[in-house]
Amino acid sequence: MRESLLDVLQCTDCGRHPLTLAYSRRQDEAILEGSLTCPGCHRSYQVSNGIARMLPIDLEAANVAQADDAVALKQSEMRARDEQVNDYERMWHLNLFGKLEIPATLRYLNLKPNHLALEAGCGTGRMTLEFARRCARLVCIDFSIESLKRCAAKTAQSGAAKVDFVQADLCRLPFRPGVFDRVVSCQVLEHIPTLRSREEAVGSLSRVLADGGNLCLSAYQYSWLMRLFGRKQGQHSGGIYYFRFTRNELRSLLARNLVVEAINGALVYHYIARCRKANG
Ligand SMILES: C[S@@+](CC[C@H](N)C(=O)[O-])C[C@H]1O[C@@H](n2cnc3c(N)ncnc32)[C@H](O)[C@@H]1O
Ligand SMILES: [Zn+2]
Repeated sequence: MRESLLDVLQCTDCGRHPLTLAYSRRQDEAILEGSLTCPGCHRSYQVSNGIARMLPIDLEAANVAQADDAVALKQSEMRARDEQVNDYERMWHLNLFGKLEIPATLRYLNLKPNHLALEAGCGTGRMTLEFARRCARLVCIDFSIESLKRCAAKTAQSGAAKVDFVQADLCRLPFRPGVFDRVVSCQVLEHIPTLRSREEAVGSLSRVLADGGNLCLSAYQYSWLMRLFGRKQGQHSGGIYYFRFTRNELRSLLARNLVVEAINGALVYHYIARCRKANG
């Protein structure tokens, strides 16, 4: 992370205070090793390998024993995503859908060169460089540390220096309200277990979006094809929960916090939604 990330960060746990930074290793503007501390609740977060580790306390591995259903399912996905980083990029259907999905996502998002953008659930960075090259600064979050490391390595290789990486739960984003001009989240919402945590996720994404800003989000579609061959919800290999949305389910979830401007279902496999945060 670069020091400038402090301008947008706030404590995950108390959700109130900006953080103070102490570091032991930096390279130019990049903080490679250090810690971030909340002056209010005194929680301390590590920065390691340049990634700010800002998971909520209940998702930390040590808390498995007392985890409720949603927390246990999230922890199971975190482990699976860490283990499957190499497989993810080899999924042929993602590469195929990407040919249509990426241009549609970019159109809906409408990034401008002066924008600060958030990619929530960046994974191994299938789309990250497309976003990075169209805005001034990009912040990527994911709860899988191995996915973030892979995404960061790709970004560094490409020379895109303006991307910061944060390990975080999309349902409890560690950012101040309204700081992002654009928010994008591709194929993540379907993996968030329970209606309550999906509501938290949409609430969290819209909280950090600036008034008048766009959010572009894609999620599995419970299409005619999936009604024939798939299930409404279940688990992929390794314990990755999924939920397939009807158009009405997705619209009513997003409309709790945002103005839903379009939901495109042409890709059959998932929906792509364009939303806007109302002014004021
Ligand atoms: C299907 S992958 C999509 C990755 C990337 N957006 C793409 O389109 O290729 C879902 C990603 O969301 C992340 N994820 C799922 N639930 C999350 C949560 N609650 N907080 C943060 N990341 C989450 C997973 O670790 C995984 O990297
Ligand atoms: Zn705090």
